[in-house]
Amino acid sequence: MKNNQHEFNQVLSDIVKTTRYVKTEVIQSLWSGYGEIARFETNVPQYLSSQSNRKDKTFVVKHINPPAIQQHPRGWSGDISHQRKLTSYDVEAEFYQHWANNIKPFCALPLFIGQASLSHSCLSSKMIVMSDLDSEGFPVRFTTISAENSKVCLRWLARFHALNMQHQPADNWPQNLWPLGTYWHLATRKKEFNAMEEGVLKNAAVKLDKSLNSCRYKTLVHGDAKIANFCFSDDFSQVAAVDFQYVGGGCGVKDLVYFLGSCLDEITLELNFSQLVDFYFTELHTALKSFKSSCDSQEIEKEWRPLVNIAWADFERFLAGWAPTHAKRTCFTHKITVAAIATL
Ligand SMILES: Nc1ncnc2c1ncn2[C@@H]1O[C@H](COP(=O)(O)OP(=O)(O)O)[C@@H](O)[C@H]1O
Ligand SMILES: [Mg+2]
Repeated sequence: MKNNQHEFNQVLSDIVKTTRYVKTEVIQSLWSGYGEIARFETNVPQYLSSQSNRKDKTFVVKHINPPAIQQHPRGWSGDISHQRKLTSYDVEAEFYQHWANNIKPFCALPLFIGQASLSHSCLSSKMIVMSDLDSEGFPVRFTTISAENSKVCLRWLARFHALNMQHQPADNWPQNLWPLGTYWHLATRKKEFNAMEEGVLKNAAVKLDKSLNSCRYKTLVHGDAKIANFCFSDDFSQVAAVDFQYVGGGCGVKDLVYFLGSCLDEITLELNFSQLVDFYFTELHTALKSFKSSCDSQEIEKEWRPLVNIAWADFERFLAGWAPTHAKRTCFTHKITVAAIATL
């Protein structure tokens, strides 16, 4: 343990170019004992200046430290969910290292400072070091939000999607991220699919997945764009996103419906869903124009609009297998799912 700490400190010092830092706060433990995300403070903030001209005193470290094999008698090798999790941290590190800093001027997210694998474990132990969004002006978190305030996140998503828009992308795009983003798509959820009760939704699952994922226009989807992964400014007018473990190719409306389902209750959705979808597409058009995208904005909407309900039904398919009684399954989501299946 001591050696682990020693190695952690050494690797972190190399990245931030000083040994004069202290951990001031554990922000959150990672899923199922996989590590922690913590805030650090230094009185020698120059390490950032070469990369960002910033002089922040704080920075954030996502330390991924999976549970040791010996704690799990049957080992992990056959565990699909464990493998997915490990890959997701590799994808997140890759995203921060090779994509994030180019995206940051257009869609707020943490600045990549450095990343490293740690050798003390045969498992994939690593750290991602990034700027502290709280000190960059995004200190507020929400678990629920009003329809009006959700628009700032929809704008973030629309801009992220517009910036990364592709028409019939090459097979190797997006390089080293998930070929198909999100954590719930059918190909990675065989176990949940098998657990679904027989019925219309299960019968439609393959078709839903195909229509959603065979679109010609693809972008980077955030892949886990729930409200908890957005950090807001004090006046709620600006937002930044974190947690890029499931970022990859796909149709942008997957992020749209997952986000709305994460933060609006059933009645709010019932009253506002269609105007929020309109808002997203308006923002998408505006962003495509401002980024001078070569993709045809109208064609994108023509292809993606019919996929909105399909994307919701596809997420419902995941919930129906993973947690059939989940609170996110409501009369509203049922209605959308039925409507989507009717269009197949
Ligand atoms: N760079 C950052 N600056 C400030 N807060 C952050 C930063 N990265 C993450 N957080 C906070 O920590 C929480 C957990 O981080 P996240 O990457 O989402 O971990 P997890 O994979 O466990 O969900 C986020 O919801 C956010 O509130
Ligand atoms: Mg998160």
